Amino acid sequence: MANFFPRWTNWLPLKIAVCGVVIVCGLTAATWYYVTPKYTRVGYQPIQPVPFPHDIHVSQLGMDCRYCHSFVDVAAHSNLPNTQVCMNCHTQVQKDNPKLEPVRASWKSGQPIEWVQLHRTPDYVYYDHSAHVNRGISCASCHGQVNHMPVVYHAKPHSMAWCLECHRHPENFLRPETQITNLDWKPDWEKPAEFVAKYGQPKDAADDWSKKEKLTQLEIGRTLKERWNIQPPLSCQGCHR
Ligand code: HEC
Ligand code: HEC
Ligand code: HEC
Ligand code: HEC
Ligand code: HEC
Repeated sequence: MANFFPRWTNWLPLKIAVCGVVIVCGLTAATWYYVTPKYTRVGYQPIQPVPFPHDIHVSQLGMDCRYCHSFVDVAAHSNLPNTQVCMNCHTQVQKDNPKLEPVRASWKSGQPIEWVQLHRTPDYVYYDHSAHVNRGISCASCHGQVNHMPVVYHAKPHSMAWCLECHRHPENFLRPETQITNLDWKPDWEKPAEFVAKYGQPKDAADDWSKKEKLTQLEIGRTLKERWNIQPPLSCQGCHR
């Protein structure tokens, strides 16, 4: 009796089954990696001991982020301000506002205010604030418009895919170093002639950009990327050291 099917087909059902399992596992893992953080983190806004209004202090009073988060451009970790920083003003301003009672209590007792932490990268991830904010990346790219938030919330996914999206195309985010803590900055605020005089333009740009009416984010980003030789790590060891 002739064998209609070649010998190797004996293994076919097993191969199909194994492939099936691998594909299903892969899809589950991929979904887990890339999708979950969006739903578990974005919008996270725990109840804080004091509903600290970033919008009032930053947009209305004009305070710079670094007045309170003073390590952000010099260290890997940012910091939260201690009670002393609040009391620089609040010994005088709003001294009877009940919302500030926990601040006054902390001031009297010497016990720090127990702020609930929102943003946390896992321990197996290496992350450094100063390496970003001194290389043209604004707080806004990673934390959203904190300057307009009555109470700060987790605005971006902070997943691996999200980090890589910018590491592959930093030109979509880079801005002049003077505008890092200016969260409202827009590309069309830059005056093309001044910008080009200060930073130049990419070597392969055909026309003279200083004559343009406005610059786009991509034009600004490509210029700064070339000028500062920006090369964010893409290899696994870059972020998992
Ligand atoms: C007057 C002090 C002050 C200023 C100015 C300030 N912050 Fe804050 N910030 C705080 C305090 C206090 C907290 C902790 C309370 C909270 O999370 O609501 C905080 C929390 C945060 C958090 C969340 C931290 C976490 O737990 O993950 C981010 C992000 C943040 N600030 C960004 C900014 C940015 C960006 C600016 C500038 C636009 C800024 N802050 C200006 C005092 C300040
Ligand atoms: C540079 C001065 C200054 C510093 C520093 C400062 N504040 Fe204020 N804060 C103000 C002023 C001024 C107001 C009142 C704004 C208004 O009336 O619109 C205010 C208002 C507030 C309010 C009341 C908001 C409301 O809706 O009633 C809270 C709560 C508050 N601050 C918390 C803090 C905390 C917590 C810190 C420390 C992390 C801090 N502030 C640091 C100046 C400051
Ligand atoms: C490239 C993205 C990125 C940029 C730019 C960035 N941050 Fe963050 N920020 C993070 C990540 C990621 C975390 C969580 C860090 C961790 O787990 O150590 C974080 C955490 C924080 C925290 C919480 C620190 C703590 O220990 O509770 C504060 C406050 C903060 N950032 C403020 C700022 C300010 C202010 C700026 C702008 C000057 C800024 N960040 C710019 C990504 C960024
Ligand atoms: C909006 C853009 C952006 C996002 C989002 C971003 N990065 Fe970066 N990253 C950069 C840029 C720009 C550099 C600087 C590259 C250079 O200096 O050439 C950098 C550099 C780094 C470096 C190298 C720093 C050093 O000291 O060598 C690490 C590590 C890193 N990023 C980790 C992360 C992680 C982890 C995340 C996500 C939690 C993240 N980044 C999110 C833009 C970004
Ligand atoms: C730009 C920084 C960056 C690079 C490059 C990077 N990772 Fe990650 N990785 C992260 C961050 C951030 C997380 C944490 C994500 C989270 O908490 O949602 C992570 C998480 C992981 C996890 C755990 C996932 C989970 O959900 O628990 C694994 C596994 C991983 N990375 C493997 C890799 C491998 C393999 C590479 C190289 C191909 C790589 N990473 C390159 C930033 C990076």
